[in-house]
Amino acid sequence: MLKINKNKKNISRILFCAAEAAPLAKVGGLADVVGSLPQALKIQDIDARILMPAHGSISLSNWKAKKINSFEVKIGKKKENVSIWQIKIKNITYYLLQNSTYFKGKVYEGDNANKYLFFARAALKALTLLPFKPQIIHAHDFHAASILTGLASSTRSKRPGLVLTIHNLQSQGWTEEKTLLKFGFSIEDFKFLDKRKKYTGWINLLTAGIKSADKITTVSPTYAKEILTAEYGYGLEKLLKSRRQDLVGILNGIDVKTYNPADDKRLAQKYSSKDVLVGKQVNKRVVRSYMNLVDDHSPLFVFIARFSNQKGLDLFKSKDLLRLQKKFPFQLMILGSGEKKYEQMMLAVNKDLPDSMRTIIAFDETLAHNLYAAADYFLVPSKFEPCGLTQMMAMRYGAVPIVRATGGLKDTVIDKETGLVFNQYTSKNFINTLKQALEIYYNQPALYRKIRSNGLKQDWSWQASAPKYKNLYQDV
Ligand code: GLC
Repeated sequence: MLKINKNKKNISRILFCAAEAAPLAKVGGLADVVGSLPQALKIQDIDARILMPAHGSISLSNWKAKKINSFEVKIGKKKENVSIWQIKIKNITYYLLQNSTYFKGKVYEGDNANKYLFFARAALKALTLLPFKPQIIHAHDFHAASILTGLASSTRSKRPGLVLTIHNLQSQGWTEEKTLLKFGFSIEDFKFLDKRKKYTGWINLLTAGIKSADKITTVSPTYAKEILTAEYGYGLEKLLKSRRQDLVGILNGIDVKTYNPADDKRLAQKYSSKDVLVGKQVNKRVVRSYMNLVDDHSPLFVFIARFSNQKGLDLFKSKDLLRLQKKFPFQLMILGSGEKKYEQMMLAVNKDLPDSMRTIIAFDETLAHNLYAAADYFLVPSKFEPCGLTQMMAMRYGAVPIVRATGGLKDTVIDKETGLVFNQYTSKNFINTLKQALEIYYNQPALYRKIRSNGLKQDWSWQASAPKYKNLYQDV
């Protein structure tokens, strides 16, 4: 007999709150998730809308935004004007909060604790004015966590359910008590004080969010376990352990319509799994010529990421790469931007490999799609990786991923079946795995093709994970 859990609630209205959402503003994978999960939830009969800042980088007129309301909030002694704009994209509603003091720059420009405390304060007011009454507020990362904190003190029957998703535990949002007060929060709201420890005066917005949420999710099952350890918990492992009952890891999906080589207008040549060989050849030739690299028979390694300590950039050592290249020629293309230190590091490696490597310091979606299409191998050697989306995108474009066994990378890539996987975070392990990849490419082409075709067969859509979110919402 079918067992129906009577305690499950009927949930159909969710409001996502986040710093970034594709296609309006994208810095990293957070935007991909916030921009694509609502589409998948629609199929589950859930109307998920998005609330985010109207960053200065977003052109409201190009997106045909409609102003639906405006209000004032008092910040310290100053009154700040906030307008609520509405944009509909592919039937998903985005609400954007516009303010000329805090949101005039790019997504993470300026003091982020101030900026996102302001976002929370404005969002809490906007919630009372929106023509949409969500049953669940689903906040993403520390930037939206204080919205939950602002709501948590009401009894559950008088407020919406509160869900927090952690996309990256490294970034926690530290601020001072006086700043909290300036944005209209009280220390009591932040229930952050650990009585046993001496209060240092610093307040952690993510900690408060974790304490305030009814349910906490993170973006892969492995990362959900890792963050309970000192190595990955960034100081919050004890707190997360204490909330273990309410913590779950749900693997991200990707937008398989946007990332589809058979229908990708950005590519020199579209291709499907049936003509992957020719498709990749043509795209590789075009990319090589664009990058001014010789068109030979060597395989192409590609790396695309936000440049930060998370992504494994310090594993690329010129000496090792040069030595490896003598035995097995290869080309390497690096695309990304971020911390200056890593940009300089990758430009320096490039100087040592002028004939076979290109480092492009940029955020360039079109180039990224072309690189997925051209790549033979795609490198994701992360130190930690909550989920990682690029390895899935790579497989969809028939680029074999080489990843470190951490977080979502561990959950999505199987060694010698859909990619190559290494364990310890050392240059030696990384280089040995590149060597193994080259051996397979040059000496075992049938195995290479098998791994690639296994990757192409995987389903990375939200189909498996959207029902898990629905299930979670019903339990809040
Ligand atoms: C963050 C994480 C990344 C994850 C993405 C989306 O960028 O670093 O691993 O895939 O968020 O959840």
